[in-house]
Amino acid sequence: GERAVYFFFSLIFVFAMRNEKGITILGIESSCDDTSAAVIRDRLVLSNVIANQSVHERYGGVVPELASRAHQQNIVPVVHDALKQAGVSKDELSAIAFTRGPGLLGSLLVGTSFAKGLSSALNIPLIDVNHLQAHVMAHFIKENEEDDSQPDFPFLCLLVSGGNSQIILVKSYNDMEIIGQTIDDAAGEAFDKCAKVIGLGYPGGPEVDRLAKRGNPKKFVFSKPQVAGYDYSFSGLKTSFLYFLRDNLKEDPAFIEKNREDLCASLQKTIIDILMDKLHRASNDLGIKEIAVAGGVSANTGLRNAIEKYARRYRRKVHIPKFSYTTDNAAMVAIAGYFKYLDNDFCGPDVAPYARVAI
Ligand code: KG4
Repeated sequence: GERAVYFFFSLIFVFAMRNEKGITILGIESSCDDTSAAVIRDRLVLSNVIANQSVHERYGGVVPELASRAHQQNIVPVVHDALKQAGVSKDELSAIAFTRGPGLLGSLLVGTSFAKGLSSALNIPLIDVNHLQAHVMAHFIKENEEDDSQPDFPFLCLLVSGGNSQIILVKSYNDMEIIGQTIDDAAGEAFDKCAKVIGLGYPGGPEVDRLAKRGNPKKFVFSKPQVAGYDYSFSGLKTSFLYFLRDNLKEDPAFIEKNREDLCASLQKTIIDILMDKLHRASNDLGIKEIAVAGGVSANTGLRNAIEKYARRYRRKVHIPKFSYTTDNAAMVAIAGYFKYLDNDFCGPDVAPYARVAI
């Protein structure tokens, strides 16, 4: 009798401890040139380790074959560090979430294979995550228990990165719809390609941002695209920028050096105006006043200021993620995985990565 009671209470204790610990997800991200692993417990981030790849710098862009090799070298130490920093052991994990796509296939394969192997070794569920949804879900990461600044549904998310420029209608954690997107280059590409033309390093976005702070945004005017609906286009801007420089360099070979800061400020202003125009239209048409930004370009100071100014002027509520969660990271994969976990939305061991796919 006494033994049974003791056993019963031990069982309750063990379950209580489990519940108290919450759902612990290991996230793995390897879609492009950053290898990242993160651990979150419920919505709280316990670690977020990112290994950047410097091998691409000398090529002025990401070389896919080099990226996948670097992922192979990085993945084991990065996952190890993420668990260590979180103070979590492998057997405390509830599930493993990984980026299935879109991205570079060779890179995605490294994270996908690793996640499959580990989930089968630990006998825990595997969760495939869409990289674009993960960028949106970054808004639900908590850095501390008091943090409750997440957006309310439905909201619009402007996702701007090196590979994407989209306006996403977010209806719930697991229900999103792309209502507008670029028909050619992404906003980040426009930053990077134009930066390259004026002799800045790769990626040029952050450099343009830095120089633009000291320049006059109204000095030069570049053409803006005419695209239907909420779609974007940035390839015309790149060409217009290029021709403008070519014409001016004929007159003055030192034109770029003399005007670098004004060129950056004017270019940045044009990109931001294009982005904000469609976002404003979508917000008005749909009557959605809650707006979020995500992706690498949302680190841009000018864009952050423009969004805040817009919010004050038009009484919108805006959400800008913390700097560390704007670029590719595994914490956003883990949080997206967490909400799929709550939905019991798992995948099997035969799941394959995809290079291209919408949300
Ligand atoms: O989301 P992300 O890290 O990954 C890719 O999709 O590749 O975005 C990277 C992009 C690059 O094009 C980079 O130039 C741009 O984000 N970016 C910026 C800034 N920081 C990163 N663009 C403008 N201003 C910034 N401060």
